[in-house]
Amino acid sequence: MSLKEKIGQLCQLCGDFLGGNSEITGPSGNVNISSEDVRLIGSVLNAMGAEEIKALQDKFMANHPHHIPLLFMMDVINGYETIFPIPLAQSCTFEPSLSEKLSRVASKEASCEGIHVTFAPMADLVQDSRWGRVMESCGEDPYLSGLFSAAMTRGFQAVGLDKKGNIAAFVKHLAGYGMAEGGREYENCEISMRKLLDDCMNGYTSSINEGVALAMTSFNTLDRIPSTANKWLMRDILRDKMGFDGVLISDWQAVEELISHGVAETKADAARLAIEAGVDIDMMSDCYLHELEKLVNDGVVNEKLIDESCMRILKLKNKLGLFENPYKDASKEDEDTYILCDEHRELAREVASKSFVLLKNDDSFFPLKASDMTNTAFIGPYVYTKRLYGAWSWVDDEDKNVITVEKALKEACENVKLARGSSVLNIGTFAKDFVEKTTENELADMYTQAVKLAKECDKVVLFLGEERNHSAEASARAETRLQDVQLELLKRVYDVNTNIAVVVFSGRPVDLREILPYAKAVMMAWMPGTEGGHAIVDVITGKKEVSGRLTMGVTHTPAQMPLTYRHFNTGRPCFKDYDFNFRTGYNDYPNTALYPFGYGLSYTTFEYSSVTLDSAILHDNSCINASVTVTNTGERKGSTVVQMYIRDMVGSVVRPVKELKGFEKITLEPKESKTVTFKITEDMLRFYRIDMSYGSEKGAFTVYIGDDSSTENMTIFTLE
Ligand code: GLC
Repeated sequence: MSLKEKIGQLCQLCGDFLGGNSEITGPSGNVNISSEDVRLIGSVLNAMGAEEIKALQDKFMANHPHHIPLLFMMDVINGYETIFPIPLAQSCTFEPSLSEKLSRVASKEASCEGIHVTFAPMADLVQDSRWGRVMESCGEDPYLSGLFSAAMTRGFQAVGLDKKGNIAAFVKHLAGYGMAEGGREYENCEISMRKLLDDCMNGYTSSINEGVALAMTSFNTLDRIPSTANKWLMRDILRDKMGFDGVLISDWQAVEELISHGVAETKADAARLAIEAGVDIDMMSDCYLHELEKLVNDGVVNEKLIDESCMRILKLKNKLGLFENPYKDASKEDEDTYILCDEHRELAREVASKSFVLLKNDDSFFPLKASDMTNTAFIGPYVYTKRLYGAWSWVDDEDKNVITVEKALKEACENVKLARGSSVLNIGTFAKDFVEKTTENELADMYTQAVKLAKECDKVVLFLGEERNHSAEASARAETRLQDVQLELLKRVYDVNTNIAVVVFSGRPVDLREILPYAKAVMMAWMPGTEGGHAIVDVITGKKEVSGRLTMGVTHTPAQMPLTYRHFNTGRPCFKDYDFNFRTGYNDYPNTALYPFGYGLSYTTFEYSSVTLDSAILHDNSCINASVTVTNTGERKGSTVVQMYIRDMVGSVVRPVKELKGFEKITLEPKESKTVTFKITEDMLRFYRIDMSYGSEKGAFTVYIGDDSSTENMTIFTLE
């Protein structure tokens, strides 16, 4: 291969450049690509459809001097055509095995449509729900986030990249993207080395340990070095320390954006910095394509770097079997068999029903009894909207395939009483490509209809939510309250009927201050996907239980963020809210979340015994068994997530007041008890110590076991 041909493999463009069609997921910068350029590229992103992809591959390979097949990549984040709940919702199930199963389904559907690689799992740790991409994360806890990114990786590529139904997985975005200052999209990340290594890296490491085939650089800076030019991060940490030997790709146009960051003056500088950092593929910029050849010929960049990247890309194509079969699994027949089949829909319905989190349930408002149904007003824009998919779900035709709340309610009960109540967005506003064109008169009429219906019924369930485009990439929001039109609807309904529950659809924990006072019950439904309507009706009617637990705390106000349960004690810890006596925290708000990590109600209640240990002394090569007995003290069968947290009481550096180290989801019949036991071993206690060595330290530890991160059910052990 000539130098130019090798460089071509290092370039990725979206399908439009080859005459296909593809979702545009980034700014269309000044990418000046000639047909000669296109002839040599190595991969395509976001093209879709088996027949289209086959045609693109045929045409491309015929023109390529060595007939090297393209890689076809896409963001298959939470399903391909069968759309599952957003990853944040999946993590609220506390069942990584479900995410493994749904990732297999997504892989099967995507591969029969010709996709070879998915840009998932997104393993960014988050702590600020103002950031729009919390919807794509698995929450604020490194341990849980790591379990889910590992499960998704297995699901996508478990049985071998060349095997039918498999696609290569991608861990992203390295690193620390979710720590953007102020939750502002693409913002600097000013985090300590320990926060990076002890907390943020776990999600990526877990996926890499599962053999993830690719990784993606993040848009942000770390220690004021953009990731895409960060040699230390990409070569010393990712490749040398973490042992990643897959393909590393930049995010969209991120190579060229090194100029905007101010670390490169020219595209040539940008190309040099990125290739030296070990970035194998330049996504959607022409820096590599137009600058690398001259840099090599001028002796500025060693051709060996090009060869290494090119070889990694060719090896991946070989592992996927593309040299034998460039279409891999693309098959119209399989499309017709697998896409949105009943089995896939059933799984989507199951995952969604397990992802909902019940935050408040006064007077046991939920579940509704069968006799309630005809005397309950189901009101709100989310009764009718088909927009129940997360932002990374553009392949499926939701208008055709989604199960709305309306459809599910009408299936569940004849003569069900419905009213739209309001638009989703405030009049005259829009959310990216989503526009409603509601007039003031139409809105007034919707309010009137809703109030009339609420007056006539005993109960009201309001289905409200944020527009899905408000929780997405480039959708950071300083205010996370719902739109005024929806809050006004809630208040007008409340004026005539106070027997209200609110179901909230959102991609993030939203600001609930203007909802909670008006609702006896509040349930988070997130963005539940294709079977969202069926799932939410299954749960609010008690056909299925509610069992989700928060993986990102709900704060009293966005102004409290960033906030995590894994905080540090500080020199003046806050023991009670509104403590004006020289204590950590705010004087106008509590210093904790309104609803903390791990929190969620069930339709029954549970009692925990105190924590017992089979030994209070732990040695490096021993283990301790920590147990509690949990009893279902209610009248209904139900599930809860028993959570174990550990605190290192004294370290050579400060240690979090709690860290999740184990959990078990259990289901108990009424009055049934179960003893849950967690093994504690020394390796669970390791961290980056004062000298940056990784390991545990002798001394006292507290172990907590309860049903959310605020539990004080604890006992002490010592590592000797
Ligand atoms: C976007 C996202 C990234 C995605 C890529 C391709 O900018 O940051 O997560 O995989 O572009 O769509």
